[in-house]
Amino acid sequence: MSAADTPLLAVHGLRAAYGKIEALKGIDLEIRRGEIVTLIGANGAGKSTLMMTIFGRPRAKAGRIEFDGHDITGAATHQIARMRIAQSPEGRRIFPRMTVAENLQMGADATESNDVDRAASLERVLTLFPRLKERMIQRGGTLSGGEQQMLAIGRALMSRPRLLMLDEPSLGLAPLIARQIFDAIRILNRDDGLTVLVVEQNANHALRLAHRGYVMVNGLITLSGTGAELLARPEIRAAYLEGGRTA
Ligand SMILES: Nc1ncnc2c1ncn2[C@@H]1O[C@H](COP(=O)(O)OP(=O)(O)O)[C@@H](O)[C@H]1O
Ligand SMILES: [Mg+2]
Repeated sequence: MSAADTPLLAVHGLRAAYGKIEALKGIDLEIRRGEIVTLIGANGAGKSTLMMTIFGRPRAKAGRIEFDGHDITGAATHQIARMRIAQSPEGRRIFPRMTVAENLQMGADATESNDVDRAASLERVLTLFPRLKERMIQRGGTLSGGEQQMLAIGRALMSRPRLLMLDEPSLGLAPLIARQIFDAIRILNRDDGLTVLVVEQNANHALRLAHRGYVMVNGLITLSGTGAELLARPEIRAAYLEGGRTA
């Protein structure tokens, strides 16, 4: 198998737990270079845990995580960040007392990037989210929910990721703002070739955005396919699209 054929991320038989609560019960998942992959599922399915376990915390109890052909199972979060995996966690978690500019700087500090890289990344982020440009000296905590999400994604982008993982980026946002966030993900993928994993409860948007999707139920993957395939499946429509879980 040549390097180009190796998936960017490959997860095999991954298990993780919080004490006695088994949140991941043996997950297999692949993300190929240049793909947008979405992970959908109800609240409590284990989506955030999967994303966090890939990022090193909680630690995997069993199974294997490979990034670009390298085993990263059990690596510390800072080592994983240095391999240029970046995440925007659920609830955004920007630094509320720091300015927008300082928050972005923190993202660049996660990897060893030089000044030229930083300037290029910053320009990219501000082109993508012009609203952040107007708010550079404002504190993060004073931003609207949508702007905080833009900042969380922008901060992740400052580390020049090869894999960007976003946990429920549209959560709590007005539809118009959610659409801007999804559009930005599409642009990053199409124009920059960025590989993206998006965790979403908004299955409708997510499956339209993604090349492929995985459905998670109770710590297990129950279905996978292209976004279009999953959107067309009656059980997906019944469980995630027509039952009021699309908001
Ligand atoms: N910090 C934690 N401590 C204990 N249990 C947790 C913790 N975080 C999540 N869980 C449990 O793990 C399971 C998966 O949660 P989570 O990964 O947050 O699901 P999702 O992101 O799909 O909503 C749930 O049963 C949840 O209650
Ligand atoms: Mg979650």
